[in-house]
Amino acid sequence: MIVTIDGPAGAGKSSISRRLADQLGFAFLDTGAMYRAIALKGLQAGINWGDAEQLVAYAREATIDLSGAKVFLNGEDVSHEIRSQQVTQHTRYAANNVGVREELVRLQREFAVGKDVVTEGRDQGTVVFPNAECKIFLTATPEERARRRVTDLAARGETVSFEEILQQQTRRDEEDSQRDVGPLKKAEDAQELLTDKMTEDEVLHALIEIVRGCQ
Ligand code: C5P
Repeated sequence: MIVTIDGPAGAGKSSISRRLADQLGFAFLDTGAMYRAIALKGLQAGINWGDAEQLVAYAREATIDLSGAKVFLNGEDVSHEIRSQQVTQHTRYAANNVGVREELVRLQREFAVGKDVVTEGRDQGTVVFPNAECKIFLTATPEERARRRVTDLAARGETVSFEEILQQQTRRDEEDSQRDVGPLKKAEDAQELLTDKMTEDEVLHALIEIVRGCQ
């Protein structure tokens, strides 16, 4: 069974989707981490961001291991680094690159072969797994999402103002939904869940109910 969870930045998808996968005993795929890892590779290599082909080459050569709780890029644990502000701001180069998307979509489908999977991202229910048995669109209002991101960054020791985060988030939302390939979009057959005012546990329960309804 494939459960797709798509939605905008900061809707709290990553942590909740991982918990859902654990509860169900399914494998978990964090596709945002893959785009982040390619952006990190570009930063590490000091890439010229105008060189789209070079980024595709990095995506083809990269070994990204997401099978455990951590993210490994070419054997190095990058779980913490890929969540930094710097990586977040450069991930658009990977996400908007058609060749990088092709390669990562291929890896995502390969990951799911023969497995029960919860997969989380922007285009999972629309492009990557259009035939998924269970599709969820998880969202929250922009202000709520920005508040959560400020709290997450503070926990990492990064202090950024609410206004700045909201501005960056609005830009990411626009880019995510206007992209020619793999844009952020609710699949027609996805069930939407608005998580404002819900605790993480409440969201998890609601998701389990939705998945039960799909079985
Ligand atoms: O979900 P997360 O914030 O980690 O995603 C990082 C970036 O990767 C997003 O801003 C989005 O542009 C991109 N992304 C994507 N397609 C996916 C998952 C993430 O383009 N399936």
